[in-house]
Amino acid sequence: EAIEKGDFEHYMLKEIYEQPKAIEDSFRGRMNASGGWIKMGGITEYSARIANAERFVITACGTSWHSGLLGEYIIEDLARVPVEVEYASEFRYRNPIVRESDFVIAISQSGETADTLAAIELAKERQALVYGICNVIGSSIARATHAGSYTHAGPEIGVASTKAFSTQVSILILIALQIAQSKGAIPQSKLRQILYELESVPNKIREVLKLDDQIREIAAVYKDAKNFLYLGRGYNYPVAMEGALKLKEISYIHAEGYPAAEMKHGPIALIDEEMPVVFLATNVSAYEKIVSNIQEVKARKGKVIAVVNEGDTQIKAMADHCIEVPQVDEVISPLVTIVPLQLLAYHIAIMRGCNVDQPRNLAKSVTVE
Ligand code: G6P
Repeated sequence: EAIEKGDFEHYMLKEIYEQPKAIEDSFRGRMNASGGWIKMGGITEYSARIANAERFVITACGTSWHSGLLGEYIIEDLARVPVEVEYASEFRYRNPIVRESDFVIAISQSGETADTLAAIELAKERQALVYGICNVIGSSIARATHAGSYTHAGPEIGVASTKAFSTQVSILILIALQIAQSKGAIPQSKLRQILYELESVPNKIREVLKLDDQIREIAAVYKDAKNFLYLGRGYNYPVAMEGALKLKEISYIHAEGYPAAEMKHGPIALIDEEMPVVFLATNVSAYEKIVSNIQEVKARKGKVIAVVNEGDTQIKAMADHCIEVPQVDEVISPLVTIVPLQLLAYHIAIMRGCNVDQPRNLAKSVTVE
C-alpha cells in the first residue's frame, strides 16, 4: 500500500506529506536525545579509518547532489573535516585526485544512477573507503559500496525527489554528529541540543504542512511567471538550489538558485517587476544581511516571497508574501525550509496543467550516461 496514492492526487504530494514519518523512520534506532547517543552502524564499523581520513568527498547527481552540498556545510561545521562535493558525472571523467586516505560518500535515492556508480568504482580503484547513502535496499550502489546507511524513506515514485532529499539530509546530520562526537569536536551539551531538535523536527514539518493553503494562494499569484530566483545564505543556499530545481523539473519555469550574497554579481541585473524572488530568510546568524538583500530586490520592484521564522516582523514588513516556519537550529533548518518550496513548486505545476509525477524529458533514475 506504500506505493498507492491513498487520499492524495499525486505521488509527489503524498511524498511531501510523508516527510515527517520518513524522517522518523530514518532516525529509528540510530539516535536518542535523552541518552545523548548516535549509532550509525557503517560509521562505527569503519570508525578508525574515518577518523584518519584526510578529507571527505561527497559525490551524487541531481537532488542527491544538493543533499551532498548540505553535507559539506554540515560536516565541516560540526565535525571539522574538509569536504568536497562533486557531481558524479564530472568526477568520473575529470581525472580527480582520490587517495586511500579519502572517505567518499555517494548519495543516491535509487542506488542505480550510472554516473554515481562509475564515480564509486573510480574511488574504489584508488583505494578510498566508499560509503553509500541510498534509499532503495539492495540497489547497485548499496552493493557496490564498502558500507552505508539506508535512508528508509519508503518508495519514492514521483520523479521530483522530496522525501528522499530530506532523509538524506537527516542521515548526513547523524553522520556528522557521530564523527564530531568521536573526535571530541562538539560539546556534549550542543550535541544533545541538536539531537533534541532532530527528534522534534518531524512535528515541526507537520506544522509547515498546515501552510499548504497559504502556499497554494501564493502559487496562484505567480503561476504565469517566466523566471524565478531562489536566494539563501549558508545552510539555506543549497535549499535555494533545490527549491529552484523542484520548480524547473515539474512546472518548466526557468528558475535559478543562488547564494544571496552573489546576487550583486549577476542575478540582480534580471530583477524587475516580473521577477519573483524566493528568499530563504531563517538564518539567525545572517539576518541583517538577508534583510539588505531583500531591500535590494524591492528597490528594483522585484516580488519577494520570503520564508521566515515564526514571529518575524522586519521582513514581514518588506516582503510581498511571508511563509512563517518554526525556528530550529540552523544545521537542521533545511529540513524545515525545503518543505514550503516543494509545495510551491507542486501547486504552480498543477495550476499550469503539468504532469507533476511524470515530468517531460525526465526519468526517476538515470541508468545510462
Ligand atoms: C534523476 C532524477 C532526480 C534525481 C537524480 C539522481 O535526475 O530525476 O530526481 O535527483 O536522478 O538520482 P539518485 O537516484 O541517484 O538520487
